[in-house]
Amino acid sequence: MPDMLVRLYDLPDPAPYDARTAAAGIVVRRLEAWDRAALRRFVLQHFSENWASEADFAFANGHPITGFVAIEAGAIAGFAVYESSRRGFLGPTGVREDLRGKGAGASLIFRCLEAMRDMGYGYAIIGGVGPAEFYAKVCGAKIIEGSDASVYAQLYREMRSRAANQPEA
Ligand SMILES: CC(C)(COP(=O)(O)OP(=O)(O)OC[C@H]1O[C@@H](n2cnc3c(N)ncnc32)[C@H](O)[C@@H]1OP(=O)(O)O)[C@@H](O)C(=O)NCCC(=O)NCCS
Repeated sequence: MPDMLVRLYDLPDPAPYDARTAAAGIVVRRLEAWDRAALRRFVLQHFSENWASEADFAFANGHPITGFVAIEAGAIAGFAVYESSRRGFLGPTGVREDLRGKGAGASLIFRCLEAMRDMGYGYAIIGGVGPAEFYAKVCGAKIIEGSDASVYAQLYREMRSRAANQPEA
């Protein structure tokens, strides 16, 4: 699971994705303090405990909260955070399965990338991908050579070891 690099000084135009997201009735906005518990529940339900911890970290440094949420029919449909796993990192990102393919994933990552650019970063790192084709297509992300171990290497080792030690169900 390598890392990918995004040039923040040369981001593509997000307008086509934002238009698709809006046409699907999905609103993407910055996380607010009162989203914290609902986001944690959403990430635990649809993704994983590790992602829930990383998403929670977006609330750790005060304002602005370093992440965005997609809302559909009043409920969380997706999320993306930055400055969470490490400084300069984007992710995790996730959209509810039944709402994928409507532009929300792209809109969420564009909002994070723009925010990181506005913080002064020249590049963003997407850690331990995941759907490399999605990131390459949407924001021109490139695989970072030699990054397969990534900052998650220790986590992956511990997860493997935990799984191996688990009693049979
Ligand atoms: C990856 C993910 C966030 C994309 O969200 P989404 O809302 O479905 O994405 P969008 O609708 O904005 O897609 C934008 C474009 O990327 C393409 N795309 C989406 N997911 C893709 C994938 N896994 N591989 C290749 N292309 C993909 C779409 O087809 C679309 O292309 P188009 O402009 O030609 O129509 C979503 O599939 C997801 O939550 N996956 C599970 C969690 C995950 O893997 N997160 C990333 C961790 S690194």
